[in-house]
Amino acid sequence: MEKTLTETNLISNPVEQFSRWYSEVKNLQIEMYDAMTLATADATGIPSARMVLLKGFDDNGFVFYTNYKSIKARELESNPRACLVFYWKEVDRQVRIWGSVEKVSRNESEEYFRTRPYDSQLGTWASEQSSILPDRSILEKRFEELKQRYPEKSGNVPLPDFWGGYRVIPEAFEFWQGRPSRLHDRIKFTKKENEWEIVRLAP
Ligand SMILES: Cc1cc2nc3c(=O)[nH]c(=O)nc-3n(C[C@H](O)[C@H](O)[C@H](O)COP(=O)(O)O)c2cc1C
Repeated sequence: MEKTLTETNLISNPVEQFSRWYSEVKNLQIEMYDAMTLATADATGIPSARMVLLKGFDDNGFVFYTNYKSIKARELESNPRACLVFYWKEVDRQVRIWGSVEKVSRNESEEYFRTRPYDSQLGTWASEQSSILPDRSILEKRFEELKQRYPEKSGNVPLPDFWGGYRVIPEAFEFWQGRPSRLHDRIKFTKKENEWEIVRLAP
């Protein structure tokens, strides 16, 4: 694995460059390699950030799943822009991705929901994410009720209409590779019409 990011070993398409780094951390079995910080902001510009899991990516964007009534969802409704950050300590790499955000299709959410374990499927129903919960027992009671309503054997927990995916459609990427003496490599890609402009940034 290369420990540098230079004009000669860089891939000129940032999604492919991401894909190379992503398969490297995946193959190294780095813990939580798929966890990323998702930064959003409300309509007044007040920022908010939290971790989510990357569930897929391609030329069309980077997909994560969440509750459509959560704080992040409300923020994305009024300000559909986000920044994603990955940090992989073991390889001293960081990736930032900026872009606009849209919901994925119901079909796509449905397909992903089917792959989730039974308990996670029930969990999405049980939790009104980011609402005030006066007592933990309410959540646990709701979970038990859901188990009765949708028995595991039936294999038929429906996709809640308040839950699904978002796709971050990238407009810029920054790849950061740690190097000795703090002389790190930073390469930024910015979408210009149908091309990616590539620049090197000072560390
Ligand atoms: C490692 C990690 C991964 C997470 N993945 C997700 C995720 O994929 N989707 C999600 O809705 N919340 C995920 N969470 C919880 C969020 O960080 C957050 O608490 C929740 O989504 C509510 O955020 P909000 O109030 O800003 O909307 C994850 C938390 C951690 C620590």
